[in-house]
Amino acid sequence: MDEQLINTVNKLQDALATLGPNQNPIDLPQIAVVGSQSSGKSSVLENIVGRDFLPRGTGIVTRRPLVLQLINYRVPTSEVDLIDRSNENNRDEWGEFLHIKGKKFFDFDQIRQEIVNETEKVTGKNAGISSSPINLRIYSPHVLTLTLVDLPGLTKVPVGDQPRDIEIRIKEMIMSFIKKPNSIILSVTAANTDLANSDGLKLAREVDPEGTRTIGVLTKIDLMDQGTDVLDIMNGRVIPLKFGYVPVINRGQKDIQDKKAIKEALEFETKYFSQHPSYSAKVSLCGTPYLARRLNTILFNHIRQTLPDIRSRIDKTLQRYKQELISLGPEMEISPSSVILNAITEFCNEYRSVLDGKGQEISSLEL
Ligand code: GDP
Ligand code: NA
Ligand code: MG
Repeated sequence: MDEQLINTVNKLQDALATLGPNQNPIDLPQIAVVGSQSSGKSSVLENIVGRDFLPRGTGIVTRRPLVLQLINYRVPTSEVDLIDRSNENNRDEWGEFLHIKGKKFFDFDQIRQEIVNETEKVTGKNAGISSSPINLRIYSPHVLTLTLVDLPGLTKVPVGDQPRDIEIRIKEMIMSFIKKPNSIILSVTAANTDLANSDGLKLAREVDPEGTRTIGVLTKIDLMDQGTDVLDIMNGRVIPLKFGYVPVINRGQKDIQDKKAIKEALEFETKYFSQHPSYSAKVSLCGTPYLARRLNTILFNHIRQTLPDIRSRIDKTLQRYKQELISLGPEMEISPSSVILNAITEFCNEYRSVLDGKGQEISSLEL
């Protein structure tokens, strides 16, 4: 049920994306990833998906926002036997870009290449940035349904073709995503740096001073000085956040060069936390799989909480598009407005079933 709700919200998001950023009447809930350059944002997203598909590394790699919709897709049982599990490019997982409708990318290296190409097409090859997002959906039986936005990291000194005011521009781009009250902020900080200096947390605090819609992720736990740990942060004794902090370990640059598989990296992560004297008692609150489950719950609860507000804004939009369609006449039935209208209608039906069936649960959900 919750998967379906998030899917419907995703469809609505796609339909509304065709309107362009400033005409979109409805801010749909999504999780925006913020942090300094090279803090590990793209690595965290890859680990959540469980596949290599993002450009990642030292320097400014993420240069346009990437709106990533993960869709938990169950392969019909009749087809399960047909899936070739002998190679990495299983036919049960694929990506689709909004700018190349209908093409299924089964090869995740090609997804990465397409992100690089699309980034360069708009921003050039030399470190330029753009606030125009790339929209990618990943269908897989192995992901939890989530909508995440990967953003360029905060930098201070311009390089390459970057404008002199690069810091302000990146900040504005990030702000445009996280200032919306509907967005959840995933603030990434490398554990081998000081939390008090975290760029991601600083930005998050500007728009969410009480820390009620920010979740902290601590990367590079493996690179911390021996004898130090993040227990004080996890226990809310440093900078408290309502959703708390989740420590994770991603692959280092050498792992990437050596083409270490994500599966192996995730196994290493689990083993690291369960064997580490500081974390072994808290192992159920550590690591990427826990982070993914937590995000799914947070996003779902958040969508349900904001439904009444989304609903009223959708009602207004619906009226407008109905009028528009009537004035356009029957030949416009596959116009962008009717696509939006269909998505909205589907959303409203979904909304009703959530309220009818689960109305009681909404107020009693654990957050
Ligand atoms: P982004 O700029 O925030 O998106 O960061 P990336 O995901 O591109 O990572 C930057 C660099 O840090 C890459 O070389 C990663 O391999 C490395 N890295 C990220 N997370 C970890 C981690 O948990 N441990 C280690 N050892 N390296 C990491
Ligand atoms: Na980077
Ligand atoms: Mg990145």
